[in-house]
Amino acid sequence: MEEKQNWLQWIAERIGWEAIDKAMLTRKVPKVNWAFTLGSTTMFVAIIQFITGIFLTMYYSPSPDHAYDSINYIMNDVTLGWLIRGLHHWGASIMVILVFLHMWRVFYYGAYKYPRELTWILGTFLLLTVLALGFTGYLLPFNQKSYFATQVGSSMAGVVPVIGPYLKRVLLGGNAIGALTLARFYSWHIWFLPALLVILMVAHIYLVFRIGISAPPVFAEEDEEA
Ligand code: HEM
Repeated sequence: MEEKQNWLQWIAERIGWEAIDKAMLTRKVPKVNWAFTLGSTTMFVAIIQFITGIFLTMYYSPSPDHAYDSINYIMNDVTLGWLIRGLHHWGASIMVILVFLHMWRVFYYGAYKYPRELTWILGTFLLLTVLALGFTGYLLPFNQKSYFATQVGSSMAGVVPVIGPYLKRVLLGGNAIGALTLARFYSWHIWFLPALLVILMVAHIYLVFRIGISAPPVFAEEDEEA
């Protein structure tokens, strides 16, 4: 036992995890309510998305000939494939809902004000990244719904003044949805956007720890009662 403690001590001295533990777990937190847990819940779902997404890449094939069949294979033949895919599929919608609820909580309590403006700005980029993950992920099963949703989404990009047609071509990798679109969306979905999400989440949460969580505002009537 003592030996184990020495060993732990040896690592602790080098890593300095007591400081991390102090900053994260033993800091003072104001009395808050359940609405203040929405950010952490979003983060929890994001972690589930990362884990299930990594598992899905083991069987998913991002080519127009095989994408649809590979999803069918995951759902029907892979052990617990239905569960992993189900978690990832529903997790995506839940995450979008949670991000909005979290944002509304922050807005309602005015927690975006000084000194948390940057936390809010990073949050808006987080929101865009989560939406982009949803959009790129939607094409991947390559079924009718995916095809037409991407058609609608890319047409919206196409009507942006001046750069619209160029934007649409870059988005699709050509003039129509095809093999290049699928490869492109897959690459964005599993590399660029998740990497961006991690960077933004780390920066966002660093600011939450650095500044501390805001306390719920005390309203006039409550003040009188107190
Ligand atoms: C992936 C998306 C996001 C994650 C994982 C996330 C995570 C978190 C966490 C864990 C907290 C601390 C606890 C809490 O207030 O719930 C927090 C606070 C905060 N978030 Fe987010 N967030 C996300 C998106 C957003 C968005 C979209 C906005 C606004 C545009 C935003 C603005 C803020 C602000 C201003 C705070 C500080 C609130 C306070 O101190 O009371 N976040 N976030």
